[in-house]
Amino acid sequence: MTEDLRRAARAAADLAVDHLAGIEARPVWQPMTETARTWLGDQPLPDRGRPLDDLLAEIEARVLPYPMGNGHPRFFGWVNSPPEPAGVLVEPIAAAMNPSCAGGDHAAVALERSVVRWLAGLVGYPGPPGGGLLTSGASVATIASLAAARHRAAASDGWDVRADGLAGRPPFVLYVSAEGHSCLRKAAELLGIGARGVRVVPADREFRMDPSALRAELARDRADGLRPFCIAATAGTVNSGAIDPLDLLADIAAEQDLWLHVDGAYGALGILDPAIAPRFAGLERADAVVLDPHKWLGVPVDCGCLLVREPAGLREAFSLVPSYLRDDSADPGGHGAPRGHPVPRWPGPPRDADGPGWFSEYGPEQTRPFRALRAWATMAHLGRSGIAGLVTRAVGLARDLAGMVDRADDLERLAPAVTSIVAFRYRPPGRTDGQLDAVNQAIPPAVQRRGRAFLTGTRLAGREALRACLIHPGTTSGDLAILLDEVRAAGEAFNPYP
Ligand SMILES: Cc1ncc(COP(=O)(O)O)c(C=O)c1O
Repeated sequence: MTEDLRRAARAAADLAVDHLAGIEARPVWQPMTETARTWLGDQPLPDRGRPLDDLLAEIEARVLPYPMGNGHPRFFGWVNSPPEPAGVLVEPIAAAMNPSCAGGDHAAVALERSVVRWLAGLVGYPGPPGGGLLTSGASVATIASLAAARHRAAASDGWDVRADGLAGRPPFVLYVSAEGHSCLRKAAELLGIGARGVRVVPADREFRMDPSALRAELARDRADGLRPFCIAATAGTVNSGAIDPLDLLADIAAEQDLWLHVDGAYGALGILDPAIAPRFAGLERADAVVLDPHKWLGVPVDCGCLLVREPAGLREAFSLVPSYLRDDSADPGGHGAPRGHPVPRWPGPPRDADGPGWFSEYGPEQTRPFRALRAWATMAHLGRSGIAGLVTRAVGLARDLAGMVDRADDLERLAPAVTSIVAFRYRPPGRTDGQLDAVNQAIPPAVQRRGRAFLTGTRLAGREALRACLIHPGTTSGDLAILLDEVRAAGEAFNPYP
């Protein structure tokens, strides 16, 4: 078996490297043939196991030809980066070790502490006693943050939401901007707050949460007997990359004793570009910051991260360890670790709020994968300056694209290009608003089918928009010109206008 695996593993490494090396020469994305779709989606489980070499041959023939497209430098869709090669390199090693990072005394758990500390350091979030953990992505990190917020608010009103549930209590209200990500509402629904408990605060003309509108909503809700508990700000909205006025929102949260959640899933790393860093002022005051290393940083999926000011509060919201296993002290030997080994700690020197216990006590996941290895390899390989360089480069390219749009007669920018997302639309002269919506809705799928670039759309201020997210380190100015050519070609081919 060992020799079979060694031979096949070398072949698998070749496949992976050839795939990465050949991406630029292939279409960004191509539709699956019906045969491929049927093989991929409808195959029966074989009765007898198949040799490793056969599996690799099928992956080469039937899986690799149909990627999502995000490895290609002309993929501008959603927020999906290419994998950073160091992260790809270590994936088989993480799988070979196959630990559960629920907790315990082993390398994977210890490495996660460094990775979380590095991430906090990159975005300027205060370290110990603050801490955090890796998650599958921002959606799960958001659930954990809002659960801690809900728990803290209930406790400060003198009750225990974990024991009592929400029935019979004043309804909680979460404040999100009109540009907040859908994962916030999903989390609120899951946590029993309900979509009706999600107050959508209007955004200003630059798609940032409007603090005076927020104050008005808070006052109205309090007068109605509701229980505001959390402001969810965004540092880099998914639609246009806007950054909410974090400092002003932090003032309101402090005045009104509300949990400040900052969704930096996509944009938090933007703080590394000195040209836009001042816009992130206030992020360091948040109770929780969510960021996604599997976005701008390029850590292979999945890898999200939740940073919290008070890990003890997060543990209060999630810890469900039988009392015979729980260990709140720094005594050696807790949780089945061999005697004489320290209890797992949060980054930095031991402190009271430093977070004893297992990672599984700080979120919804029990068995947790070895995400830290791919995140560690990515960051260690790039280094701080490499990470800052890729962020700054992407922000600069977004500025260039915005300029190209602004100079074109048949294109119109729909939002400021603050981070690395450019929202715009195709706007040939003489079309009505309805016609413009129709053509701009049709452009993304048409561009995708053409295979030279990949772009997705959205709605901004009631209009159909195209949005290009620039997070591929290999994207060039030439790629931007091709993207705009493709938009025009798809737009001109759209027929008939309604
Ligand atoms: C601003 C923002 N928040 C949250 C999310 C959700 O992140 P995930 O898909 O990692 O759960 C995204 C995903 O694109 C996002 O852009």
